[in-house]
Amino acid sequence: MHKQLVRTKPILAHTDTGLKKCLTAFDLALLGIGCAIGTGIFVLTGIAAATQSGPAVVLSFIIAGVASGFAALAYAELASSIGGSGSAYGYSYVAFGEFTAWVMGWILLLEYGVGAAAVANGWAGYFVNTLANFNLHLPETITKAPMLGGIINLPAFGIIWVLTILLMIGVKESARFNNIIVLVKLCTIAIFIGIASMHLNTDNWHPFMPYGWFSTLENGKNIGVLAGASLVFFAYFGFDAVSTAAEEAKNPQRDLPIGLLASLVFCTVVYIIVSGLLTGIVSYTELNVPSPVAYALSKIGHTWASTLVATGVLAGLITVLLVLLYGLTRILFAMSRDGLIPPVFSRINPDRQTPTRVILLCGLVVSLVAGFIPLGELAETVNIGTLASFVMVCVGVIVLRIRHPALKRPFKNPWNPLIPVLGILSCGALMTFLPASTWFRFCIWILIGIVVYFSYSIHHSKLKS
Ligand code: ALA
Repeated sequence: MHKQLVRTKPILAHTDTGLKKCLTAFDLALLGIGCAIGTGIFVLTGIAAATQSGPAVVLSFIIAGVASGFAALAYAELASSIGGSGSAYGYSYVAFGEFTAWVMGWILLLEYGVGAAAVANGWAGYFVNTLANFNLHLPETITKAPMLGGIINLPAFGIIWVLTILLMIGVKESARFNNIIVLVKLCTIAIFIGIASMHLNTDNWHPFMPYGWFSTLENGKNIGVLAGASLVFFAYFGFDAVSTAAEEAKNPQRDLPIGLLASLVFCTVVYIIVSGLLTGIVSYTELNVPSPVAYALSKIGHTWASTLVATGVLAGLITVLLVLLYGLTRILFAMSRDGLIPPVFSRINPDRQTPTRVILLCGLVVSLVAGFIPLGELAETVNIGTLASFVMVCVGVIVLRIRHPALKRPFKNPWNPLIPVLGILSCGALMTFLPASTWFRFCIWILIGIVVYFSYSIHHSKLKS
């Protein structure tokens, strides 16, 4: 039994075994905050407020935060009891076996790859806005995806290539760099909160819930607070990165649960304040723009603050992008090392000490996705994957309690199985609020994964003993 439990493989960034155990609960919380705060709050808040939730986007954030909270508790139990840094892939291996772990890894590829493309889109929105503040106006044909009337989103495409090259050279995020950028992000948010609270006009909060709780339009688009929650859920994607840093935590049993929950609670509070203020300073109907926070500030006359905030967002999103792209290459690397995908994906370039080919391939695919598909579609695709992985982690907690009741669990969810069941129900419900087109794409992705598994992975797996 124990042998099986320790076969969890390190998978993501910050996770090689033999790493220095230097991260405190505070560092871990900052890691979660650094990965989570990004395009979700800075861009999707505007889209969701304008098209799905209205000012009640605040409620959407609370609902998505509560669902993430149940999942965070499940992550905390698995991270503290299984150890290793397997994230959902490793936990699934321990709880369910290879096939489910494969599906989980396959979903993680979608999450990280499409997630990076989505964040690149958010970055591009603020980039174009900043240039415009300096009177440099890029034509829409090169700043919008074809579905939005352009040809390509060139800034989104380009930023992925810049980071791909950095990763190929061997640039790695460090905890210290992450902490500095988190500080920049928080200052950016503080500036926004400070200025916005002086211009609050509560008339903007009426009507509070213009689109109701939930309904589906004729074109298949879902609207309402619940549909908004399933979109802004993207803002919570990334906090689980804390669980991948287990190998580097000083005292993982105690610090991982603290880091996970602290970062989640912090992000939720920030999201509630920012979304409440954003819809309180300009009408929600105006917020369907690529850089809503900067837009709102310039709308109330603070052009300098708008430029400052846009610059802070640009810097802040770079770390989110780096984590996602790096994570993507590491997932591929780990799955290849386990024999589930061809060995070419785990080949290290001897000069650079990085898997250059994998990075190049990831950069190519992600840049094309970022350049040609709009943000809303991308975010919903990521969300369905993240929600599915949260459901799996919650199920994993229940399964492990039954299969391995004696396992040492330094952090244990109370009233078992109430918390994981609530996690399954809430994350599952958020999945159902996503549009049919997103479900279709997700099912196709899973089907491809199953075909790959049975035609290749099952025959080459090194995990089966
Ligand atoms: N949660 C991260 C963001 O909103 C991925 O950008």
